Amino acid sequence: TGGLALADLPPLPAKDKYKVGFAQTESNNPWRIAQTKSMQDEAGKLGYQLVYTDAAGSAAKQVADVNSMIAQGVDLIFLAPREEKPLIPAVMAAKKAGIPVILLDRNVDQALAKAGEDYVTFIGSDFVDEGKRIAEWLVKNNGGKTKIIQLEGTTGSSPANDRKKGFDEAINAAGGFTLLASQSGDFARDKGRQVAEALLQAHPDADVIYAHNDEMAMGAIAALEAAGKKPGTDVIVLSIDGGKEAVQAVVDGKINAVVECNPRFGPKAFETMAKYAKGEKIDAWVKNDDKFYDPSNAAAELANAY
Ligand code: AHR
Repeated sequence: TGGLALADLPPLPAKDKYKVGFAQTESNNPWRIAQTKSMQDEAGKLGYQLVYTDAAGSAAKQVADVNSMIAQGVDLIFLAPREEKPLIPAVMAAKKAGIPVILLDRNVDQALAKAGEDYVTFIGSDFVDEGKRIAEWLVKNNGGKTKIIQLEGTTGSSPANDRKKGFDEAINAAGGFTLLASQSGDFARDKGRQVAEALLQAHPDADVIYAHNDEMAMGAIAALEAAGKKPGTDVIVLSIDGGKEAVQAVVDGKINAVVECNPRFGPKAFETMAKYAKGEKIDAWVKNDDKFYDPSNAAAELANAY
């Protein structure tokens, strides 16, 4: 019949120049801006046309963005799915239209879609390990501070789910810590500040804040300062992302430790696409390596942070 069998991934024909979609989730932070720039720079270097969309923080808009890329006949779609479940229909629609999808930085629900069957691969960090690494730093360096407020990322997103899992498991395994509260700040600075403010009022004895990204950590620093507390000294502040502002905050003593989440996807994304076009086998997960910043290396690493 010539149609795609259910478990078949659409092939990517060999071409000199491709028209490629990149469906971004939002652009409200330096991490997203660095990721977009890396994708645009690499597409530019290769002379490919990049159809870029910004879902502005709406999973529904991101689904519509992918549908519009399908209608425009792009050769392949890079998708950074805002949340694990709502983007499944977009992945399936592209597959049905014969357009391969590569997931960037965030994953979709693994019970509902599979790498190698529904999409080519997931390129990104190990978010569970990021949460675990920051918890392990706390276990070693807490200086008697054990009462934790956790600022979670976007509800239903793979980094929020996994950074919580890795952190909570390591803290529980170590024993002696109390998670006073854990609430979403949607990966956003002002939301993070507001949530930190409310949680600090409800739990004035908190002496550790773990934020799932730099934006919320910077919001938490503002909330701590407004409450007359010294971030990094009275309250340990931990973050994930490792952008310049956060690494500078480590140098300044306001953040105690940050796990990097590397946003420079461009080279790896297009290299993976080229391999796929050649018919090479692609792993289900193309993993990014993340650095770690604390007072021992933050000043030396500052210039390398995005
Ligand atoms: O998916 C990666 C996360 O999304 C980053 O930690 C965050 O800053 C971004 O919005």
